Amino acid sequence: MIARNGIFITLEGIDGAGKSTHLAWLTQHLQQRYAEVVVSREPGGTPLGEKLRHLLLACPMHRETEALLMFAARREHLDQVIMPAIQRGACVISDRFVDASYAYQCGGRGLDEDKMKALEHWTVQDVYPDLTLLFDVSIAVAQHRLAANRELDRFEQEEREFFERVRNAYLERAACFPRRIRVIDAERPVSIIQEELEKTIASI
Ligand code: TYD
Repeated sequence: MIARNGIFITLEGIDGAGKSTHLAWLTQHLQQRYAEVVVSREPGGTPLGEKLRHLLLACPMHRETEALLMFAARREHLDQVIMPAIQRGACVISDRFVDASYAYQCGGRGLDEDKMKALEHWTVQDVYPDLTLLFDVSIAVAQHRLAANRELDRFEQEEREFFERVRNAYLERAACFPRRIRVIDAERPVSIIQEELEKTIASI
């Protein structure tokens, strides 16, 4: 077990839920409370992880290959970024973490959950977030936001049913871990969501 002097927060949600907008605000807000705020993302967060991200977002692959590469990137991310930062007392914010694998690879792609648990046990061990903010929107809203977006990556191009499954898997995770995962209704105006985030952060 690692010494946890810092705090670990993750952001989750289906593509188009508005994570990026809230990440920018949250970072500024947390910088007022913590001397060091480390912002990172998955897949990615390290030089190798970013190369794996590039492959994951562009190349068609078997769903097990996809899961293995996600966890390969995560192993590097934990070792090089997350664990050292938590140990030195930083506030770490990761744009996605292991819940995304349950949502996308198990929920979306139908990967066997026992395989996921084995990968999780092997890779994550006991480094779980103190708080996970799950930005939840309907598929219609998410797709509308994505349509206004730049070029879509391999995940963003998936059909509506895929995102329905991903969203449901996220909500099931939240029901299993109600203390850690906070579901944020992300269809409301940004300023209202920020008020809720402020209260949530104050409570940890
Ligand atoms: P995303 O945060 O959506 O990046 P951006 O906002 O720049 O588009 O992450 C990229 C994609 O990776 C996203 O569609 C979900 C997917 N993903 C998984 O399928 N499994 C995982 O474990 C992680 C971390 C991400």
